[in-house]
Amino acid sequence: MARVQDKVCVVTGAARGLGLAAAEALLAEGAKVMLTDVDRAAGEAEARRLGARAAFMPQDVTREDGWNEVFDAVTARWGAPDVLVNNAGIADIADVERVPLKTWQRTLDINLSGVFLGTQAAIARMKGRGGSIVNIASIEGLVGEALIPAYNASKGGVRIFSRSAAIHCARSGYGIRINNVCPGFAETQMVSGALATMSPEAAQSFAAATLGRIPLGRFARPAEIAAAVLFLASDESSYVTGSDLVVDGGMTA
Ligand SMILES: NC(=O)c1ccc[n+]([C@@H]2O[C@H](COP(=O)([O-])OP(=O)(O)OC[C@H]3O[C@@H](n4cnc5c(N)ncnc54)[C@H](O)[C@@H]3O)[C@@H](O)[C@H]2O)c1
Repeated sequence: MARVQDKVCVVTGAARGLGLAAAEALLAEGAKVMLTDVDRAAGEAEARRLGARAAFMPQDVTREDGWNEVFDAVTARWGAPDVLVNNAGIADIADVERVPLKTWQRTLDINLSGVFLGTQAAIARMKGRGGSIVNIASIEGLVGEALIPAYNASKGGVRIFSRSAAIHCARSGYGIRINNVCPGFAETQMVSGALATMSPEAAQSFAAATLGRIPLGRFARPAEIAAAVLFLASDESSYVTGSDLVVDGGMTA
């Protein structure tokens, strides 16, 4: 028996990066996975590559209606959802003196309100039959970083929101577990894209300083973050709810 055999999963922001790696890890252990993303071309191509147990739907996680469309489509195709991975996220670099209100609001909309909407919609579908909701927070929700105040605020919000929702679901006897994965720096476009917005010198010194803060001495491979998602999605974590699983090479130790 595979670790998430026949579990029906939804992974947001799954066209690339950590979401795609999570989808691959779940599929490799027997799940059926609906990948969603705003990037339709990449999402469709990846779902095709991943085979018949994968599918793709375009979704902007900030749209409340879209959540019902996704869960209706998943239920019609494979049955009620067992797992939701709220992974979609953005990061813009601008310190507290420079971050425009628009960037602040968009970051909170996608990274925090998107997680809230997904969690709320998933609870409605999972109530009574159980399920696992895995929210991708970050070590940037544990410690501050001068260049990303909006991102810090959004990820800190995800961490404590998940705890509140987890307690509610546990006390209500819903059989739904809700946990956070807090990745450290991982090799994805989010990190390379952020570095690309800096001058080459600034990017080099930021990367060197960051690596110096990671006891394991390297960034994470996406599959190493996906392994944590897989654990929390599976029944192996049946007594884990309202927790943070930090996967950061020791950076915050
Ligand atoms: N890469 C890291 O070092 C790192 C560290 C900690 C946490 N995280 C978190 O992991 C998650 C994935 O990050 P990643 O590194 O793979 O980033 P990424 O930029 O490579 O991928 C993010 C994906 O989310 C999608 N997306 C963006 N806005 C969306 C929206 N409104 N609705 C639906 N999809 C949307 C993008 O199209 C993209 O495919 C994010 O929540 C991020 O904050 C990443």
